[in-house]
Amino acid sequence: MASVLNSSTTRFKSLPYRSGIIYNFLTQRLYDQKKKYSIIARHIGNGKIHVLDIPCGTGFLARYLHSSTIYEGWDLNKKFLKKIKTDWKKKRIKVRKIILKHSNIFEIKNNTEGKRDVIVLCDILHHIMPHHVKLINLAKQHARKVIICEPFTTNRGEIQAHDFLGRFFIYIFKFLPVSLFKLIDFFLIDNDGVNSFEKRTKWKFTPHSMKLFFEKLGFDKFIKVGDNIISICTPKRAVLSKDKK
Ligand SMILES: C[S@@+](CC[C@H](N)C(=O)[O-])C[C@H]1O[C@@H](n2cnc3c(N)ncnc32)[C@H](O)[C@@H]1O
Repeated sequence: MASVLNSSTTRFKSLPYRSGIIYNFLTQRLYDQKKKYSIIARHIGNGKIHVLDIPCGTGFLARYLHSSTIYEGWDLNKKFLKKIKTDWKKKRIKVRKIILKHSNIFEIKNNTEGKRDVIVLCDILHHIMPHHVKLINLAKQHARKVIICEPFTTNRGEIQAHDFLGRFFIYIFKFLPVSLFKLIDFFLIDNDGVNSFEKRTKWKFTPHSMKLFFEKLGFDKFIKVGDNIISICTPKRAVLSKDKK
């Protein structure tokens, strides 16, 4: 874990991670964000629910949450946290209370604030390989419900982007040598300034093998949305993976 916890924010970030507007534009080319976050919001539910979104990125999920929700987001990207605050002030985000923290998501292990109602892990597991199981188990210990949304593959040959522009670029990327693609990724795509290209591109499942992976960790509800699978677990019913040993 040391390498993750010692990560600093000073490393180079690609263009989308320097501007929340560009990040939101590009992710909408790749994923059906409206459908994805609406489903997650539906499974969070209405009422005075305390949601912890780790990492929160630009807080796009919060736009779909009921106004009575307490939204808490942690991320190492200060610009993204600032964008969430602006979006909240401009009423693009309508939740009643917002708590933002510039923090490493693995700091949840030191949480003393009691359980959150829901922890959401969205589009992060492939970034933090090989520490993804550790994060899932931490989330299960600190929430009554865990919702994970993750693409089942980061392989250029297998991604099916959401719209025409996304599909066009994915098609072009398929023909580039790895060295050139890595360079483009570094400056223009998914380089979050925290996790390496090598780690992020090792994430390879099929929808079926990803479901089996999450079932072993106690998840029992699965919804496929394009390249993403939303997996849901209610930890008090789930068997923690460490308990199985
Ligand atoms: C692909 S984005 C996903 C953000 C958001 N959940 C979403 O659905 O758009 C990945 C985010 O993870 C953040 N990140 C990566 N590793 C992190 C860590 N160890 N602690 C906190 N944030 C991290 C990056 O700053 C980036 O904003």
